Amino acid sequence: MRRRQFVNRLAGGFAAWFGAPFIHTKISKAWETFIPGEDKIGDERFWSFVREQFPLTHERVYLNTGGLGASPYAVIDAVVAKINELERISETGHSEQLWASVKQKAGTLLGCDAAELAYTRNATEGINIVCNGLPLKRGDEVITTTHEHVGNAVPWLARQKRDGIVIKLFEPSTQSAAENLARIEHLLSKRTRVVSVPHATTTTGQVLPVKEIAALAKAKNIWFFLDGAQTAGMLNFNLHEIGCDAYATSGHKWMLGPKGTGWLYVRKDMLDVIQALEVGAYSDKSHDLQTGELTLHPTAQRYEYGTLNTPLFGGLGAAIDFLQKIGMENIWRRDAELSTAFLKGLQEISPVEILSPLNPTERSAMISFKMKNIDYLKLQSFLAEKYQLRTRGVGEGGVNALRISWHLYNSFEDVNRVLEGVKEAAQL
Ligand SMILES: Cc1ncc(COP(=O)(O)O)c(C=O)c1O
Repeated sequence: MRRRQFVNRLAGGFAAWFGAPFIHTKISKAWETFIPGEDKIGDERFWSFVREQFPLTHERVYLNTGGLGASPYAVIDAVVAKINELERISETGHSEQLWASVKQKAGTLLGCDAAELAYTRNATEGINIVCNGLPLKRGDEVITTTHEHVGNAVPWLARQKRDGIVIKLFEPSTQSAAENLARIEHLLSKRTRVVSVPHATTTTGQVLPVKEIAALAKAKNIWFFLDGAQTAGMLNFNLHEIGCDAYATSGHKWMLGPKGTGWLYVRKDMLDVIQALEVGAYSDKSHDLQTGELTLHPTAQRYEYGTLNTPLFGGLGAAIDFLQKIGMENIWRRDAELSTAFLKGLQEISPVEILSPLNPTERSAMISFKMKNIDYLKLQSFLAEKYQLRTRGVGEGGVNALRISWHLYNSFEDVNRVLEGVKEAAQL
């Protein structure tokens, strides 16, 4: 049977099983009419159905969502439809209504108010807005980790160079959350102004004790910024409950949105603290060049300016709809099941050293490991060539490991395939 026929037959079978009419022309139509329920979500066939919503090739196994997430047809269709609509009339398509509705969806997903969200091009843009917008003076100290992604390292380094702020580092401990709090406390001084850490590290996927760090920062009158590039669309959390002052994330990783999208959250009472340095059309509530009057927009929209890519913005809204149809609780449960199965399998392979936390409450869906008998980049090439696995080598923080990301389009067969490859690599 040819693959396309097989997929259509498979999807037709699911349509019967889910009781939804299946339209053969676009797989996203099957998705649109599908009504999820608890009984279906616990069934392995449901996740195959989810997998078929992605054009992602079956020729290799994609395990780098921490780098870039694959988008489903529903997102691609939304972007293409909007481009086609707008290019016919050559308009920007920017509308208050669209902006309000997508931000409302994002606020529900992230656990904050729509008015606290600015649309960005990536997580790094949000990080820059916070890093450069905070009123810091020469000698003011910022605490961060030795495991930062370049996106949360370079902006602070640039500010250090420009304004003389001081960066203090701690090595994240994967042994205990309490140890990380202790390491932060140890670095505190009278000059500490900011704690800027990842929600989940790019190196080992470790989830830091963010609520506890927020409470500590609040008690010490320090600003707390979270680099959330690795958590929106993977973990089920609520920004208001975490209590951070600001949070930046990508739309194009776990959220499955179009490439070149992101969100910046700035808590309402921080809007006048984190200065909007780059402004223009849409940043203001009112302005008058004649009188010199300028009132910034009362919401986080003040950080947006100029013509934006409306099709991408709409596509990010479609990505949130896709995630919410499954439900963040179910997505995280699935990602945790896959990554836990992988971790357990790894533990049985002897030259493997697991770098991600073993404690499930500190673990995300990214598992990093290395092998005593083979360099991590050679291992990456071996798995790519022999097993068609797309993984990510992590050199950040000197960890020199391989990172495997597990998301909703992955399966337990994928888990077995990676383990098989690692077992063979153990014999090299
Ligand atoms: C922790 C962390 N921060 C920031 C980034 C940068 O994300 P973006 O490319 O969306 O700016 C990444 C990307 O991998 C990351 O892992």
